[in-house]
Amino acid sequence: MNDPNGLVYSDGEYHLFYQYYPDSTVWGPMHWGHAVSTDLIHWNHLPIALYPDSLGYIFSGSAVVDLNNTTGFGSKAQPAIVAIFTYHDPVLEKSGSNLFQSQGIAFSLDKGRTWTKYSANPVLKNPGIRDFRDPKMFWNENTKKWNLIMAVYDRVHIYSSPNMKEWTFESEFGMVAGAHGGVWECPDLFPLKAEGAEITKWVMLVSINPGGPNGGSATQYFTGEFDGHRFIPDNTSVKWIDWGRDNYAGVTWSNIPGSDGRRIFIGWMSNWQYANVVPTAVWRSSNTIPRELSLKYQEGQYFLTSIPVREFADLRSKSEALIIKPQSFSGEKEIPSDGISLMQSELLFDFSLSDASVDSLGIILENINKERFIIGYVPALKQFYTDRRAAGNSGFSKVFAGISTAPFIAGNELKIQVLVDASSVELFVNGGKLVMTSIVFPTEKYTRVKLFSNGAEVTLNKAEFYSIERIWP
Ligand code: FRU
Repeated sequence: MNDPNGLVYSDGEYHLFYQYYPDSTVWGPMHWGHAVSTDLIHWNHLPIALYPDSLGYIFSGSAVVDLNNTTGFGSKAQPAIVAIFTYHDPVLEKSGSNLFQSQGIAFSLDKGRTWTKYSANPVLKNPGIRDFRDPKMFWNENTKKWNLIMAVYDRVHIYSSPNMKEWTFESEFGMVAGAHGGVWECPDLFPLKAEGAEITKWVMLVSINPGGPNGGSATQYFTGEFDGHRFIPDNTSVKWIDWGRDNYAGVTWSNIPGSDGRRIFIGWMSNWQYANVVPTAVWRSSNTIPRELSLKYQEGQYFLTSIPVREFADLRSKSEALIIKPQSFSGEKEIPSDGISLMQSELLFDFSLSDASVDSLGIILENINKERFIIGYVPALKQFYTDRRAAGNSGFSKVFAGISTAPFIAGNELKIQVLVDASSVELFVNGGKLVMTSIVFPTEKYTRVKLFSNGAEVTLNKAEFYSIERIWP
């Protein structure tokens, strides 16, 4: 699998479709796989939702609930779920034509279980652009129209429509904004209220591949204003939603009830640099933990924070839990983690950094083969990092092993939330101001947690370790 697609909440269910090739663990003719959840944590796999057809493979896209029945596919009493996706025609592509990507729609009247493709597809023909894909559609309450944002080369195009069937080009954004080391893919655009300010901003997410801050695939974002026609950014600087190497093509759920009000994001936990060769069998790739996005304002800038959705906390084991006492340490110090299944755990650390002479500090996850995944912070460099150079198997790719860095100023307090799963480490620092997601393939389970500090003593105010319950029956 790769990108999450068609994220929509409807009738008590979160739908998660995704780029899926059922016949191999290597990317191939794309379908939309499908899973549903009532809590964003426990998922049920459902049959494939969309199959390739004569117009092509089914590439990435989005889904909405057509509450006003603008398409006529359902009724106001029984609104349709409508998906919009990219058709990718491999035959046209091979023929040398530029016209191989177009946008189609499909609808479901039975809670996403079965889908009917619109008979007059494509609804948005290719205008002669090779990279013309990944439509994210949303209802714009201000203009009472649908808007669509999609990726076009290394920028985005915005469209509008009264009915999802006829689309009008509105504007282009991005030529002189953000990062341009590769093509832009999988954009998203949504309003989000800034915390602590009575102001709502529009947030644009745009994945880029390659050109991420630590190599390969990554997702940048912009904040600004959007009037249904044009996106005006607050500034054109690059901001990354996640500084790790394994969070790509992430987008957000539509139709979350107003009473909930969250903006919930999920990303694909891999990187096109090595996605097709990572050493897993039977399956390949998974998603990040769903994350709640918030908009904060600080020092004249709006920025996003991401934290695991609160439902995740219900998975903390009550019997396999450790509260670690306050302590100071220097050099390397093991923190006993007996009884905790580290390979399926949540680890919370709260450090004080009052001593300015600390050169570096951090956390090491280690196994009996002395493989270690290192999480560190270097105050003088204002830099946070993860190091998977010797964390496990990396021979499958020349670029997999390595250090990923992120600019970061912790202040006096450094709080690190670590979610460890069989082959991933997701880090949320200081309330999600900094996020780093990495996949990792230790040859044996990590069984030890160590802290390190160089230069001076560091105080651990508190730590909590939890085994995480299995989500599958
Ligand atoms: C991003 C992407 C999309 C495309 C899909 C194809 O990972 O390349 O742009 O729609 O994957 O699987």
